[in-house]
Amino acid sequence: MLADLALVGFGNVGRRFATLLAERGARLRDDEDLTCRIVGISTRRHGAAWDAAGIDAPAAARAVEQGGSLGEGGGADATAALIAGLARSTADLRVVIETTTLDIRAGQPAIDHVRLALSSGCHAVTANKGPAAFAYEELSRAASASNLAFLFEGAVMDGIPIFNLVRETMPAIDVLGFRGVVNATTNHILSALEDGEAFAPALARMQAEGIAEADPSLDVDGWDAAAKTAALANVLMRAGITPHDVRRTGIGEASAAAAVRARAEGRRLRLVASAGRLPDGSIDAVVAPIALAADDLLAGLRGQANALVLSTDLLGQVAICQLEGSLTQTAYALVSDLVTIARQHRARRAAPPRRTP
Ligand SMILES: NC(=O)c1ccc[n+]([C@@H]2O[C@H](COP(=O)([O-])OP(=O)(O)OC[C@H]3O[C@@H](n4cnc5c(N)ncnc54)[C@H](OP(=O)(O)O)[C@@H]3O)[C@@H](O)[C@H]2O)c1
Repeated sequence: MLADLALVGFGNVGRRFATLLAERGARLRDDEDLTCRIVGISTRRHGAAWDAAGIDAPAAARAVEQGGSLGEGGGADATAALIAGLARSTADLRVVIETTTLDIRAGQPAIDHVRLALSSGCHAVTANKGPAAFAYEELSRAASASNLAFLFEGAVMDGIPIFNLVRETMPAIDVLGFRGVVNATTNHILSALEDGEAFAPALARMQAEGIAEADPSLDVDGWDAAAKTAALANVLMRAGITPHDVRRTGIGEASAAAAVRARAEGRRLRLVASAGRLPDGSIDAVVAPIALAADDLLAGLRGQANALVLSTDLLGQVAICQLEGSLTQTAYALVSDLVTIARQHRARRAAPPRRTP
């Protein structure tokens, strides 16, 4: 099976996806009968590229990393042309891989990119939280109406298979709520604070190590965790919320004393993301630092570690943990979404047509 791919966004995640796809190409062919060809790339300021015969994407990644450009163009027009070109491909699968930057105000431009992919007859895979956090119902309805996929495993928790876990292994189960530690930067900072470091140097160290963003407010103010909380609640609980509906408290200078105090009391301060259903059926979603009992599974998470505990009606509490996160995990989530699409395509082809009674 041949999949033609158009990459919208070619930053850290997009470039690692391109190299990982090259590294695992033979494995995908052998195990999944899936050959992937990157035919186009668009960015905001680093130009765009198109070659229906396939781009040498690892070479393009090296060029961008060395300060080069992909070619002329870029931005919205280049992306529209890219998706139109992909839609004309005769490959078995046409997939837009969306890895642009998150805009926390409204989840754009990723939502428009996914909309355009689906309305053009292409599957959409994204690592951006925006589409699931702001427009999950609309996009998943549009995808299923056209027998297309809208997948986003890399958007939350660096690619731990949380959405796959529920979709593939928990049929007929209701997720009643969840709680987790889902932001690596704040977890790193809180781990440093409880070791006695002050907030500003701890944050500066995270930035120097490339863990925190140059503008870390998305992390420390809790926006990243709120976007993940909204995405999880929308997908797992049909919440229909946005990150702006999440009650949100970030961390700051005052967290240093709170972290040290918590540790002295045998507790651990962690930025906890959670959601549950209120008696009237509405969703209560919260991101806040909480001093957790030492034997709480979330209390033991340090540094890059992430974990999510799902409350379910039939399986009780189910936890999934990732002890280290990196670009490779996020890039792998995109690869695993591609494999999901290929498997669904093969299953659809093999299924006998439905008989009407
Ligand atoms: N980094 C991680 O570990 C991680 C983990 C999980 C999820 N994510 C999510 O994955 C996404 C990508 O992250 P990243 O670290 O790769 O970000 P990044 O390095 O900033 O790259 C973003 C890419 O998107 C492009 N872009 C931005 N706006 C665009 C537009 N309107 N049209 C076309 N291209 C556009 C940028 O182009 P220019 O290069 O020209 O600016 C750049 O190539 C984000 O949504 C992030 O939240 C990241």
